[in-house]
Amino acid sequence: LRSVVLGCGSYLPSRILSNDELARSVDTTDEWIVQRTGIRERHIAAPGEVTSDLAINAARAALAHAHVEASSIDLIVLGTSTPDQTFPATAVTVQAGLGITQGAAFDLQAVCSGFVYALQVTDALLRSGSYKRALVIGAETFSRILDWNDRTTCVLFGDGAGAVVLEAQEQPGTTEDRGILTTHLRSDGRHKSKLYVDGGVSSTQTVGHLRMEGREVFKHAVAMITDVIYDAFNATGTSAADIDWFVPHQANKRIIDGSAHKLGISPEKVVMTVDRHGNTSAASIPLALADAVADRRIKRGNLILLEAMGGGFTWGSALLRW
Ligand code: ACO
Repeated sequence: LRSVVLGCGSYLPSRILSNDELARSVDTTDEWIVQRTGIRERHIAAPGEVTSDLAINAARAALAHAHVEASSIDLIVLGTSTPDQTFPATAVTVQAGLGITQGAAFDLQAVCSGFVYALQVTDALLRSGSYKRALVIGAETFSRILDWNDRTTCVLFGDGAGAVVLEAQEQPGTTEDRGILTTHLRSDGRHKSKLYVDGGVSSTQTVGHLRMEGREVFKHAVAMITDVIYDAFNATGTSAADIDWFVPHQANKRIIDGSAHKLGISPEKVVMTVDRHGNTSAASIPLALADAVADRRIKRGNLILLEAMGGGFTWGSALLRW
């Protein structure tokens, strides 16, 4: 069995926050943000609009694109670090919102690597035969955990959601056949204090704010990302030259450019949305996928390379034939 992508979709809150607008409330400039990060604007959820609202909209778009009914979904795995509530899982709110009463739904937390982590878990559950058709969602409202007085972090993130529909299908299983070919995950908790939220249920009973040593994250990013991509190449006997589209986690243009350059992936093959979305954590990869599918860059049969790195640190890669 292979986990084959049937469709994808995304959703962004309507409110757009530009760099210039941010520069009116914190000591920063459009020029600084664009030069250091590539970010020009980000979307921000409306008051009362929660992560499950974004996720449900993205899931509906993915189901429509896949031409499948919500009632045929028997697994929902939702990557998020900004759930609606401590519990129940945001995934069950999504399940109810879509009118699904069968199967299983749960959240998975690996910060910016959440979507790649969710893909590996879902892929394993589909290939085991336990479930037939899954929604894998990345959905975040990082605007709710930002310290809007801290210019070193508040300029970097945005809100949004993306989703893919995956189905277990019988496939011969070569690298030419459709579906997820390989996934590789890593984590190293020794880095846990370089990017974290300073609150939580068990520690402070507060939500807390995102804190980051940006330069420390940057220092490790390219090496970790490329390392786990080589794992994907080695596992499948593929190389950078075989990749049709590189769809990285959208944290920072310099990290993306640096990773593509080190791997030898040409810039025309890199899907970049960080300029318009900012860093949407677990949502950034499915948002970027949906963008490149909507404008017909990504086509059936393309070889797609995904990667992410984030708090923990966690990092991972996935290689799939669209
Ligand atoms: N506007 C203007 N100046 C700023 C801003 C801002 N928004 N933020 C920081 N500065 C200042 C700093 O105070 C510092 O001033 P100083 O020299 O007087 O002390 C100066 O700019 C340089 O600061 P650095 O932190 O050294 O800047 P750097 O070039 O490292 O860029 C950045 C900062 C963009 C955060 C970079 O380190 C980075 O991209 N790191 C990766 C972090 C990341 O992408 N995290 C996302 C989550 S993890 C992930 O998804 C991979």
